[in-house]
Amino acid sequence: MMAPPSSFRLFSADLDGTLLGDPAATRRFKAAWEALAPRRRPQLVYNSGRLVADLRRLIDRGALPKADYYVGGVGTQIFDVARRRMFGGLRARLADGWNSARVRDVVARFPGIRAQPDAFQHEFKSSWFLKRASPAALRALSRQLAAAGLRVEIVYSSARDLDVLPRRATKGGALAWLCARLGVPLDAVLVAGDTGNDASMFRLPGVRGIVVGNALPELGAAADGLRTYASRKVRADGVLDGLRHYGVLGARRAGQRIGR
Ligand code: GLC
Repeated sequence: MMAPPSSFRLFSADLDGTLLGDPAATRRFKAAWEALAPRRRPQLVYNSGRLVADLRRLIDRGALPKADYYVGGVGTQIFDVARRRMFGGLRARLADGWNSARVRDVVARFPGIRAQPDAFQHEFKSSWFLKRASPAALRALSRQLAAAGLRVEIVYSSARDLDVLPRRATKGGALAWLCARLGVPLDAVLVAGDTGNDASMFRLPGVRGIVVGNALPELGAAADGLRTYASRKVRADGVLDGLRHYGVLGARRAGQRIGR
């Protein structure tokens, strides 16, 4: 059953391939979002594989509407936009059981794998390229990490990007942590995405999701059977379509007009 619009208190959206990728559609999203009355619109969270420093530069360019929080580095950093600072509490949670040097040693030995550039790495995010990895290969890597005593999360996206993260990271893990801090129940949360690193957001119990039309099968498969709306429209137009489907955009304003 679809929730009434007022019940969505937070919208967590991926950027590359979801809100970004078609500049004209991004402009349409920005205009539609900013037209919502500030007190009525959900809090906005950009949830990306990019690190927060990169997100800040990108968003400062002004193509996207202002957001309340940035979740960066596949759930390994959270930035509070109004207070202009990182959430400190997340660090302790991620550091628990994490050893990036040992992770690097194990992963570097895996056949066909190559480290991503330094600009994409940080203390809680070990990122690699591994082209078209099969589920069996990913399971083998996971077993090797476990055999080395490392309890980590492997996130595979775009049939190319492989992130090894602390167990409690991921986009969804960080989003759940943020929502708990903000007192926002997960059934008041809407998410949107296009690739494998978004799957953890869709899997959070109670959330509703928008899968954009250009999404890769890896997300479609992960989101199958969950409460999602699969748009036929692509990138930010798919997000707009989903926001209308869930009544965040459009329906309420039309209703108000009729009522007056
Ligand atoms: C972004 C990050 C990259 C990561 C990918 C998938 O592209 O820059 O490091 O592997 O997202 O999560």
